[in-house]
Amino acid sequence: MKRSIHFITLTIFAYFYTSVPLIAQSIEHTDDWPNWAYGLLGPLTEGDRTAPPCPPDARPIECGYVGTPVPDDGIKRTLPDTNLTFTRNEAYFGYGPADWYPNDHPVMPDVVAYGKESEGVQACALCHYPNGQGKMENGHVSGLPKDYILQQLESFIDGKRKSADSRKANTNVMARIASRLSNEEKIEVAEYYSSMSYQPMVQVIESETAPQVRATTNGLMLPIDNAPEIPLGQRIIEIPDDPEKTEMMRDPRGGFIAYVPIGSLEKGQDLVRTGSGKTIQCGICHGQDHMGLGLIPGIAGRTASYIMRQLWDIKQGTRESPLMEPVVTNLTADDMLYISAYIASLPQ
Ligand code: HEC
Ligand code: HEC
Repeated sequence: MKRSIHFITLTIFAYFYTSVPLIAQSIEHTDDWPNWAYGLLGPLTEGDRTAPPCPPDARPIECGYVGTPVPDDGIKRTLPDTNLTFTRNEAYFGYGPADWYPNDHPVMPDVVAYGKESEGVQACALCHYPNGQGKMENGHVSGLPKDYILQQLESFIDGKRKSADSRKANTNVMARIASRLSNEEKIEVAEYYSSMSYQPMVQVIESETAPQVRATTNGLMLPIDNAPEIPLGQRIIEIPDDPEKTEMMRDPRGGFIAYVPIGSLEKGQDLVRTGSGKTIQCGICHGQDHMGLGLIPGIAGRTASYIMRQLWDIKQGTRESPLMEPVVTNLTADDMLYISAYIASLPQ
């Protein structure tokens, strides 16, 4: 008896003290690692911080990075076609963020609009917006099939969907949030976001140069004011089409611009439409317009960073997806970059 208790204690001890760092370290960052897709400016270095681990009793907020609070300047700002005004901090309030355009969406369930403050669960609308359009650093949830949303919430909870990059903390936050929802709340949020259609929102520009960017704590890239453009190289730089509106006001009607290497769209189109002998035509499962088919999610017009991050996570095995694994097996990082550029540009 004593021995078995000792064994259990040891096992629990080993779980807490080894499992998270082991997962984080088990993936080797190769030279082709797409840091840009994770909202990161450079490769993993020894001094980099790993996303805070998420012990079962943590509040979701503790699984993320706590950013330096931005002093509120108290200025009420507004956006086109609305009479509402919010200060920066009101727009960002985690348990009731700005709802600039209440007529753009049905009435939000409480957990979408306010989250659950007592449990540290932030409102879904904070990251994915009331209309579900979302951003490059989180995801695009409007128009996804209801059962797909429910399945993904379970995958986050079961650890079947994690970030391949140990620095990406907000994926952990998402997992903790999912695990704090009751069954009724899961169904409510899935019905809510699936009831709206997704509006493609990325302008893709083939270019040799791109604006210099800085990354926010969560991975939103913002252009550096007055800095000259720099060579793009073999990566995608994605920024909001109106950085001030997206960053200060969290404008849910905002879109993104993706600067992609020259030739990406043609190469991406070829891979997506024919498979090029390396992969399976995406339209077979995602629908000919790539807007989704049955239980399979739409992918067209999502941010290039989001698409690349999913393909890379699936390739690294941290996002489990039996149907997508054969799709990515023979694709290189470059192939995935071209595919992400092309899919983000749809419908053209
Ligand atoms: C703190 C920010 C944050 C909040 C709040 C948040 N999410 Fe997320 N969510 C994320 C991130 C980050 C991802 C994407 C992770 C990745 O890149 O794989 C995500 C992904 C998702 C996905 C997967 C989308 C897809 O296309 O597969 C769903 C569904 C989702 N969230 C639903 C919700 C719901 C419902 C709520 C509210 C109960 C919520 N999220 C609250 C950050 C958040
Ligand atoms: C055999 C069917 C199949 C094919 C072919 C396929 N997919 Fe998928 N894809 C899926 C399924 C199913 C999912 C949902 C994840 C899951 O449930 O496993 C998915 C998910 C995705 C996601 C994540 C979506 C999200 O909202 O997070 C992306 C991105 C994606 N696929 C891109 C592609 C691309 C690009 C191609 C073509 C190169 C492709 N898929 C081909 C079945 C397929």
